Amino acid sequence: MSLRKYLARLQAENKLVTVAKPISKTYQIAGLLKQLEPQPVLCEQVAESDFRVAGNLFCTKADFAAYFDIPVAEIIPTLTRAIENRKPCEVVTAAPCQEVVIEDPDLDALPVLKHCELDGGNYISSGVFVAAHPEHGQNVDFHRAMQFSKTEMAVRIVRGRNFDAFLQDLVQVDVAICIGNLPNVLAAAATSVELGVNELEIANALEALPVVKARTVDVFVPAETEFVIEGTVYRDRRHTEGPFVDLTETYDVIREEPVLVVKCITHRRDAIWHALLPGALEHKLLMGMPREPTIFREVNKVVKCLDVNVNPGGCSWLHAIVQIDKQHDDDGKKAIEAAFRGHTSCKHIYVVDADVDIYNPLAVEWALATRFQGDVDLVVKDKAPGSSLDPSAEPGTKMTTRVGFDLTKPLVAKGKNFEKAPFPQVDVEEWID
Ligand SMILES: Cc1cc2nc3c(=O)[nH]c(=O)nc-3n(C[C@H](O)[C@H](O)[C@H](O)COP(=O)(O)O)c2cc1C
Repeated sequence: MSLRKYLARLQAENKLVTVAKPISKTYQIAGLLKQLEPQPVLCEQVAESDFRVAGNLFCTKADFAAYFDIPVAEIIPTLTRAIENRKPCEVVTAAPCQEVVIEDPDLDALPVLKHCELDGGNYISSGVFVAAHPEHGQNVDFHRAMQFSKTEMAVRIVRGRNFDAFLQDLVQVDVAICIGNLPNVLAAAATSVELGVNELEIANALEALPVVKARTVDVFVPAETEFVIEGTVYRDRRHTEGPFVDLTETYDVIREEPVLVVKCITHRRDAIWHALLPGALEHKLLMGMPREPTIFREVNKVVKCLDVNVNPGGCSWLHAIVQIDKQHDDDGKKAIEAAFRGHTSCKHIYVVDADVDIYNPLAVEWALATRFQGDVDLVVKDKAPGSSLDPSAEPGTKMTTRVGFDLTKPLVAKGKNFEKAPFPQVDVEEWID
């Protein structure tokens, strides 16, 4: 599907808020999207640009599942199958994303948003970077990029990830930044897989994804994407990047990051820009959801795993709630250790039984209140480097303390019962009209 078809579907279902009045890319669009979150929004007239802007597109698991026409419970198995059964994409020679080709690019013409008052600049936040390496092939991932001239951006590149490996090795890397993608590409770009895997093949396994060769760089991009910004990232040319809001909704620090020089922009006719609010629900969903299959797989190796929720309350990164079918007294603790292996940036793991709704924070807290004893059910790991996103980790070293909470009930209750007492089922309509 294309983004415009998806928006038409939302409109037909009365789920899309359309804004007809001109609205500014400086603060106004971000403010409106945040206020309307999680409702999808289409801004039809941007004051400073000829292009439309859509946002809040996939804020919840329900939105994501509805796109693929699957129940929410099928998301983890669907992503797992796509990662394991990748499919090479069909290559086409003519593509909607190249209907318009601009060889003297000007980033000012695009609706690159200024989100919040202290931001270091206007930011592309939904950009899926496609890059290639002569030995490893294509890599696809997200990088926020801060505009600082008509053709230059500072790109946030987390050290140690695949794109960073390309850049350290090749010194300069050609990239195509794709904007205006759908959940197959968004989820695939957000997965962490081994070097050498082209994530677009994961996207193609989720939903057919024809690709086309970019105009000025040697990579293949989704044919239906709305915008492609082509250019080169230079390892040794740096510019300040930030401040910018990160996943935790707090401001990230200012860093000296590699510079991207834009050489060509292609787009669809009447292209639609995807605004992805930093730290907001859509960002959180894309960060956390791809970690759920990796946690599930590791936990399922040691105990029967039923479901995993990398929940927004834990910034969709630092917490995971794992539901298991407990068969042995030490299953909860085994699940904690395995979950940390499945998501190494995670800080707190909560393990619950099958009768606890992992999507309801009150239910998880109820398990903490009624099934947990700190002296026996708590796992405190030795201090070790954790997530760069955690403001409470030690600055510089990222040293953090990982903790696991075994909230499962003992197999044999010694005192009071652990079950919630069921109330009688009655037909309410018998008494109330
Ligand atoms: C919306 C979104 C924004 C992201 N922004 C960045 C970023 O600015 N820099 C970065 O290095 N990683 C960012 N990431 C995480 C990368 O996409 C993540 O490192 C990637 O999934 C790992 O890819 P790899 O396995 O190819 O290394 C972002 C992820 C999402 C979902």
